[in-house]
Amino acid sequence: MSEAVPIPPDVRVLALPSAHRFAPGDDLLGPLLAALDDAGLTLDDGDIICVASKVVALSEGALLEDPRTGAPSDTDDAEGTDGTDGESDRDRAAVRALARARATEIVTEAPWVTITRTHHGFVAANGGIDRSNVPGTSWLDLPTDPDASADALRRELAATTGRDVGVLVTDTFGRPWRLGQTDVALGASGLAVLRDERGTTDLDGRPLAVTVAAVADAVAAAADLVRSKASGTPFVLVRGLLPLTVAGGAPGGSGADLVRPLAEDLFRRGAAEATIEGLSARRTVRHFDTHRPVPIELLAEAVAAATTAPAPHHTRPWRFVRLTAEARGPLLDAMAQAWRADLRADGLPEATIDARLARSDVLHRTAPVLLAAFVDLAGAHDYPDPRRAQAERDLFVLSGGAAIEALLVALAARGLGGAWTSSTVFCADVVRDVLDLPPAWEALGTIAVGWPDGPVPARPTPSADGHLEQR
Ligand SMILES: Cc1cc2nc3c(=O)[nH]c(=O)nc-3n(C[C@H](O)[C@H](O)[C@H](O)COP(=O)(O)O)c2cc1C
Repeated sequence: MSEAVPIPPDVRVLALPSAHRFAPGDDLLGPLLAALDDAGLTLDDGDIICVASKVVALSEGALLEDPRTGAPSDTDDAEGTDGTDGESDRDRAAVRALARARATEIVTEAPWVTITRTHHGFVAANGGIDRSNVPGTSWLDLPTDPDASADALRRELAATTGRDVGVLVTDTFGRPWRLGQTDVALGASGLAVLRDERGTTDLDGRPLAVTVAAVADAVAAAADLVRSKASGTPFVLVRGLLPLTVAGGAPGGSGADLVRPLAEDLFRRGAAEATIEGLSARRTVRHFDTHRPVPIELLAEAVAAATTAPAPHHTRPWRFVRLTAEARGPLLDAMAQAWRADLRADGLPEATIDARLARSDVLHRTAPVLLAAFVDLAGAHDYPDPRRAQAERDLFVLSGGAAIEALLVALAARGLGGAWTSSTVFCADVVRDVLDLPPAWEALGTIAVGWPDGPVPARPTPSADGHLEQR
């Protein structure tokens, strides 16, 4: 059984304001010592200094340039939802692009924010990149190695003051399922970051099996009680937690110790509800942001999802052709010609035909990506009679439909819109001919793909009413 954990009876949290505006190349020690001096304080062994990651990153020069060269910055829309304070839609797009580019994983996206996993393993809104209190037009990344930053400051403090203190590099993060943000410890040196109470007992003698208190996060959160974003308080002294610090005999921990190993991260797996909601999130999107490209990785991910579709005879018949800029025009021209011939044969007036073709043209010619979908009937069984031959073909087409649905759902999961249209189905020969495809490839339509040009309307709650019968 573990020893009972000593709980300090009296903790003080002391703000250390500083008028210094940090810039790349600055040291932290000078302004910290000046702030202590201004507050009439000297360090004791076992004190903990919380330093805002903002000034650490600024002094380390972790500035990032706006990825949109020459784009004007405007701040007409200052409301953030765990996103980025004080930024317009254009700026928000910029910070999201930076976060995506630096992410090891895009955890989730909403219209106002991109949640990413950073190289440190932190999961944060826009990868922790922001520019509040950052002079100029640059954005600021998190410090590259907050544990190293904390360690360096602790050593400098020890060398200058002779005191053995703990140092935390803190930042403000949102939490899933809880409103608001609190400060957490990104980097630590000279103190325990976790207080393991497992193996001790509760008041009734029951063994505690899971309680490991994230004390460094608690200290970081406490520090945020005595400052606001505009109070100019990069440093906070937390006094009275000697047992947590190395000076008090605790083993030192690091910010990295607070990052849950991916294998133990149950939240990222999602739940049954998330899967069901993912299906509902797919809507046909016909209007795209034509300036925003679709990353090829997201397209490949969606095609991979399509290959999870069930298929007859253990075949894998799904084929998607991403139409190049050169191929798209001639294909759409040839398809339009075939469609016009069909509509003329139906006796439709030329003006009606023109209007129909124009509607289709807008979608197919302007969509950032146009995929042509097929199923390869090469694996289909041969039947001598038309009834069974037709049924066999239908099986493959059904599988193709399931694959396209999976593709669209995967695209929607990343915030991408898609419009599956019948286009190629009515002129399959023309399509095979223009694209030089095998005769066994059955056309299933095209899928226009891009980032939606505006909010996608939520689907009414799906219901089985009218769709499920019992006989
Ligand atoms: C096989 C198939 C062919 C379709 N063809 C077209 C089409 O030619 N033009 C179009 O605008 N939408 C087309 N759609 C999309 C439907 O119009 C769309 O699914 C429907 O409006 C329901 O909207 P939702 O997808 O957002 O649920 C097609 C859908 C399927 C499954």
